[in-house]
This record gives sequence, structure tokens and C-alpha cells, in this order.
Amino acid sequence: MALLQIQPRPVDPSVDHEIQAIVAGDSTAETCATDLAVGPWDFDRRPGYGPGSSMGDVIPTGAPRQGELPAAYRVASEEELHARITAAKATLGERVVVLGHFYQREEVVAHADYVGDSFQLANAALGQPQAEAIVFCGVHFMAETADLLSRPDQAVILPNLAAGCSMADMASIDDVEDCWEQLADIYGPLDAPDDDGLVPVIPVTYMNSSAAIKGFVGRHGGIVCTSSNAKTVLEWAFARGRRVLFFPDQHLGRNTAKAMGVPLEQMPMWNPRKPLGGASEEDLADARVILWHGFCSVHRRFTVDQIERARAEHPGVRVIVHPECPMAVVDAADEAGSTDYIRKAIAAATEPTVFAVGTEINLVQRLAAQYPQHEIFCLDPVVCPCSTMYRIHPGYLAWVLEELVAGRVVNRIEVPGDVAEPARLALERMLAAKP
Ligand code: 13P
Ligand code: SF4
Repeated sequence: MALLQIQPRPVDPSVDHEIQAIVAGDSTAETCATDLAVGPWDFDRRPGYGPGSSMGDVIPTGAPRQGELPAAYRVASEEELHARITAAKATLGERVVVLGHFYQREEVVAHADYVGDSFQLANAALGQPQAEAIVFCGVHFMAETADLLSRPDQAVILPNLAAGCSMADMASIDDVEDCWEQLADIYGPLDAPDDDGLVPVIPVTYMNSSAAIKGFVGRHGGIVCTSSNAKTVLEWAFARGRRVLFFPDQHLGRNTAKAMGVPLEQMPMWNPRKPLGGASEEDLADARVILWHGFCSVHRRFTVDQIERARAEHPGVRVIVHPECPMAVVDAADEAGSTDYIRKAIAAATEPTVFAVGTEINLVQRLAAQYPQHEIFCLDPVVCPCSTMYRIHPGYLAWVLEELVAGRVVNRIEVPGDVAEPARLALERMLAAKP
């Protein structure tokens, strides 16, 4: 294969800087929402669920609300916040551990003791016996998971309580319980094994779901998966049940099951707003995987057109996308895998390569800066971060850490005991499931 001639170019990994430059007119790039430039301070006063890709989402009932951040943190410069976070962490030493998801902005990742995907961070939360507090720079369901896996006396802190996940909110516990009852009407008692020892349905939830949903799954013999172990988890489920109810992400469910050879006709969709989920009794009788009608607003933006354009403009380009992308996009890409898969694939490339990546922009920009020998760009030409991840502004991180220094725990995430026990069971099944 002919070597591609790639000129290393300086990349500012900060999506924040890029959005500020677009708004100031210093960059001709486009952003999905100019509101992002003003920071996360006003989110709670707006009727929507925040700016950016999930602009149209409605705030779910009972979603946690973030109170106003003291003004000193809202007006502080980037440099001042960096210094304050660094100082607070130094004072707290081993008493605190900061976890950062790959999709966090650069200014936050700079302070993380562990950076990883949701599976790695769940494991990191398990392995911090010395820390009194785990500050989780990610979204609400990840902090709940850390609370489930950490010791009861360890406080898990989410710097901005409004950092939710619009996909996780698409599967409410009421809708899932209602679906379960309707499935029992069709399949009979759902916990009764047949002659082969298989129950009619095993519920599988993506990590991107509330603790209440994980608890539901734990109570009903089911399991949690992440994008890095979805195949192993589906194999676990098929060894125990005739079929799987997979929520909330239809795309991860479809892409994984399809790669395992499940025909599309045996994957009906369950739309909680329709009777019987909008499926027919025949479809459900024949189903192998029932897919919940949920999706990620960030990964839904990737299209086959973008891949075709990347191939036309960069012959030899390697296209890697996250399995939360629609099936047609995954099929058109060269590879699909979790955030950590994407990172490792790029790290392992020995020859200069052009990579077009279909995942959240903060991770893509960071990889581009980290591996200047390659050309790495986001398939989506619009600078569009996950707007809920983006709510973890360094101002909130400085605030929660300085409160800890003052002996106060703010923004603690605690899963109630009755939910925690079965939710932990569902997570432990996942951690024990081996390929
Ligand atoms: P990972 O499981 O790959 O970290 O992805 C989490 C997520 O929220 C993707 O949108
Ligand atoms: Fe949720 Fe999508 Fe954001 Fe991941 S990228 S946290 S799935 S909204």
C-alpha cells in the first residue's frame, strides 16, 4: 500500500476553545449550538434539556437539578480555575480520586486521575479503597454506577447534577415495567424456564441507563452491558433465555446482534408510546432481540454520506465509528467499537494514516492532538459535543473540590438501598461475564 503523505499539524484539543473561536468569528467552522460558548450556568432556567445535540429533549420528571454555582466560579478565568483545581487536589491528596470519561472537555480531563470509557471507569471506581470521595466527571448514570460499585462510606460526587444522558432518559422505569407486563401477556410467566432451561426473555440494559433500570434488570435475571462487552453479554443472555429485551439503545442492540448473526426480521422495535410497542404478536413470538426505541443524539448525527465524502476526499481513509451509530453507518465504516476500541486502534497504527472517526468530538480532538503522525478528524463536520457531558465545566469541578477541602460534600449521588442491591447484582453479572 502506498504511504500517505501527512503533514503534522498543530491541533488545539480544546473543543471549548474552538467553539469560542467560532462564536467570536475567528473560525469558519460550524458549531451545533452557539449557546455552548456561554458555559453551563443557565441550563436549568431553560425549558429544554440544554443546548447542543439534545436541544429538543424534554427534561425528564424527577431529573436532578443543579443549583446556582457561586459567582466566583462562574467568572473565574480558565487559568484561575486550573490553578484552584490543582491546589485543591494537592491538598486532598489520596482522599479524593477524579475520574474522567473520554468525552469530557480537555480542561477537565487535565485533572483526571483516570480517563476511560464507561466500563473502565466502573472498574476504576471499584479499585479506590483509599479515597473518601470519587469525583466523577461524566454523566449521571456513570456516577450512579460508581456509587453502586464503591464502598458505602465513599462519597461519589457529580460536579454538575444536570449532566444527564438523553439516551438513558429514553427508558423510564415505568415504561420498562409496563413493557414487561405486556410481554408476560404474550409469552406467559417470564421467570419460568422451558424444557431447555431457557426463560422467555432476558432483560439487558446498556450501562447508559438509570440505576432504577439496572435494578429492574437485576430483579428479573438480567444483566448490564457496555459498548465494549455487548457481544459477550448477549451470549450470556442467549445461554439463559429464548430472547433478549435490549434497552435503551436500539443501535447498539441491533449492531451487536446483527454481527452475531441474528436476522433483522427477528429484531422488532419496542416503542413505549405504542400498544405492544408497535410490534405485532407474530413479530414478538418470533423475536430474538426486542429493541427499545432509544438512541444517542450525538451518534445519530453520523451518516453514510459523511463516510462517502471522507472516502472521496481522503482515498485510503480508515473509518472507525462507535456502535451507537445507526446500522447503515456501522455497515459502511471499516470498523466499529467502543471509545476505548477507537483509541487503541489509532494508538496501534504504525504507518501514518488518515482516520475519520464517528464519535464524540472531544475524544476525536484529543486523539488528533495526541497522534500528530496521523490525520484524525471527526466524520461530522459540525463541532458538536455531547451537550450533557459538556455541563461538567471546570468551574463545577473547582467548586466540588474546594467544598471537600472545607469538609463539605456537595452533589453526592446515592442510589437508594432497595434499588442498589439488584442493580449491583446486574453489574456484577456483567463484570463476571467472560468472552
Ligand atoms: P463508552 O461505553 O464507549 O464509554 O460510551 C459511553 C457513551 O456514553 C457513549 O455515548
Ligand atoms: Fe448519552 Fe450520547 Fe452523551 Fe453518551 S454521547 S452520554 S449516550 S447523550
